Amino acid sequence: MTSQDFEDGLKAMEAAAREAIAYRRGVAAAQTTPVATYREMLAAFDAPLPETPGEPTAIIEELITRATPGVRAATGPRFFGWVIGNSHPTGVAADWLASAWGQNVGNLVSAPAASAIETVAANWLLEILDLPRGASVGYVTGATVANFVCLAAARSEVLTRVGWDVEADGLIGAPPVRVLIGADAHATVFSGLKYLGLGARRVVTVETDALGRMRPSAFERAIQGEGPVIAIAQAGQINTGASDPFDEIAPMAKAAGAWLHVDGAFGLWGRAAPTRAEQLAGVDQADSWAADGHKWLQTPYDCGFAIVRDPEAHRRAMAISASYLPPAQGADREPSAYVPELSRRARGLGTWAMLRQYGRAGIAELVERGCRIARDMAAALAAEPGIELVAEVVLNQFMVRFGDDDAATLATVEQIQADAVAFIGAATWRGRWVMRVSVSSAATTDHDGEITVAAVVAAWRLVKEA
Ligand SMILES: Cc1ncc(COP(=O)(O)O)c(C=O)c1O
Repeated sequence: MTSQDFEDGLKAMEAAAREAIAYRRGVAAAQTTPVATYREMLAAFDAPLPETPGEPTAIIEELITRATPGVRAATGPRFFGWVIGNSHPTGVAADWLASAWGQNVGNLVSAPAASAIETVAANWLLEILDLPRGASVGYVTGATVANFVCLAAARSEVLTRVGWDVEADGLIGAPPVRVLIGADAHATVFSGLKYLGLGARRVVTVETDALGRMRPSAFERAIQGEGPVIAIAQAGQINTGASDPFDEIAPMAKAAGAWLHVDGAFGLWGRAAPTRAEQLAGVDQADSWAADGHKWLQTPYDCGFAIVRDPEAHRRAMAISASYLPPAQGADREPSAYVPELSRRARGLGTWAMLRQYGRAGIAELVERGCRIARDMAAALAAEPGIELVAEVVLNQFMVRFGDDDAATLATVEQIQADAVAFIGAATWRGRWVMRVSVSSAATTDHDGEITVAAVVAAWRLVKEA
């Protein structure tokens, strides 16, 4: 790289920063504008491999011009699709530095500051989520990988207890591991089971109630039996926001010698909110927890946490050693010992920045606000003839149906997306289509909830009259 190339690269960084700030100002004020499709974007970018070098600022400007029509306004105040936080500007700023500093958190020596920041943020996470203070935390890409990492630690520990070294000897010939899981578990947990050779289909499914919570009596029946057992519970069902009855199932899991894992991608943040913490009572009795930063904590993507009560099991499943890597010193937290990868970006910086920005009180307010807006939106929608609230609202997620059949619900969701005042998606629940609302962005206010309710009612009336 010539010094000219370097200077040109810095100018490109400035251009990207200017555009990013202008974009966020615009999105904060705007509605969720319609967005170009993947196919249209493919056509916009389709080009042969460049044969010659390009000019950095021109490349960034080309990227902005071509991509902007296809950038979904997920950071806008009326985005209620999936469970998507806000990529808060403070978290983005910290994340920019993670990239600009070029820190590889593969080990303590290559990234001393980032490693230390991750250690401190890990302690803050345990405190705010009120989980055992000695637990280990791995910074991963999201809850999917967090579930995988936690289940790897679970697999290691339950097999170690019966004298099998799965890290060394693999699963072939190993004692069978029974896996219990609620009937309304998130699809990504099955991915973890698939990666770990535990089999996505080889599970014992535990019956759930109307909110998707495991029934304690069904759990009690399912946990009986011989051999190693892993039980998978959840905090925050994707459609209802409800959490399993940890107070009841955790002692049963303990008595059976099972490892209890909790998928708490977004729901675990309920621990931080005074009026919701009760729903999660007993969750701290589990052995491992998956949570996301890029949902309720509002960090930019990608950011999730694999939290394990027994750091030794966590390290056994994940640690990497090689002669060229510096050995861990004493109690120092080696960042690669808790995640599947060696080289990675310093994603803990966004976590540190968001916890520093909000503090305990700010996060409590954020979670409480999301729950209040969800409750108020659901009540206002249910007051409109033809709109049915599908289940009680207990957290930030809720579902409604329109009219008598799936077609009316799907048509209404399509109309809402076309009107683009707000973005809301559809899902299936108990065999029928629903509109699912997730209130998880820091940008969303009570007023955004009201505007959205009016837009949904208008869309439904149009569909009804058509
Ligand atoms: C309960 C639950 N588990 C796991 C996931 C997967 O999380 P991620 O997309 O961060 O990997 C989600 C995502 O919405 C979720 O809600």
